[in-house]
Amino acid sequence: MNWDANMRIAHLTDLHFQTPPTLREMFHPKRWIGSTNLYILGRHRKFSLSTQRGAITAASAQKPDLFLMTGDITAQALHAECSLAQKELQPLIANIPSFLIYGNHDIYTSNLPNKSLKQLLGQWLPPKNPYLFRHESIAVLYIETCRIDWLSRGWVDPQALNKAKQLLEQSDARFTILCIHYPVVNRRGQPYGPAQRAIRNGSIFEEWLKKAPIDMILHGHEHHGYQVNIQTGKGMIPNINPGSSGYARDEKMDRRAHFTMYTITEDKLQKVERFAETAEGFVPTTWGR
Ligand SMILES: [Fe+2]
Ligand SMILES: [Fe+2]
Repeated sequence: MNWDANMRIAHLTDLHFQTPPTLREMFHPKRWIGSTNLYILGRHRKFSLSTQRGAITAASAQKPDLFLMTGDITAQALHAECSLAQKELQPLIANIPSFLIYGNHDIYTSNLPNKSLKQLLGQWLPPKNPYLFRHESIAVLYIETCRIDWLSRGWVDPQALNKAKQLLEQSDARFTILCIHYPVVNRRGQPYGPAQRAIRNGSIFEEWLKKAPIDMILHGHEHHGYQVNIQTGKGMIPNINPGSSGYARDEKMDRRAHFTMYTITEDKLQKVERFAETAEGFVPTTWGR
């Protein structure tokens, strides 16, 4: 790669591919609750296959050099959901260097890597925590923030932070992106909350970040996107959540799916573009909801 050229990165998050569970899959108590929420209380209508497809098609049309996805690939980590995700993501993962991380919905009933996700999307997922994915002169650091929790709280392993520090010390990347699922800060740049949705030990993560040579943080989990600045060892850097890329469009609720494109030249983030779904498809937008 000629580093005078621009590197363009597509970022999708929280696609939440969903299928109803089989009877056998329903035996797990968390899936009883999850499936009730999704299929009896109607939460499944919040996400739409045509929107998920539209986001993937529109991101592919941008001809990115790299595709990143920051978790919640599925709704309940069911085999059929993983299979659907693998099929639908083909336009991106089959053609573009890609790196996907887990969300709390992908680590649904066990802290062990989900077997179906590993089997179907394993080549694009991190093999361990932490992990430094490399593409040309760009490094993408993954640190797991998800752990089984009835309240959907996140957690970061202090040992993973120590190992991540070592990975960064050994890296000669010119631009380093941190990909996490849970947010560290909210849309006002304050610690993310409420407590039942936040990283439980988020304060140690914030302290760690203040010394880490990270140039940009990408995350998901919160389905309404935002961009704020956050302090790292590289100064105040952008912390970006495009918002869910699978959200069914609801004009009354002012709810729509988004994805983002980043242009990086050498060691600088030159441009952030955000796209939103409208009746005409995905079009450039701003940072309102
Ligand atoms: Fe999500
Ligand atoms: Fe999530």
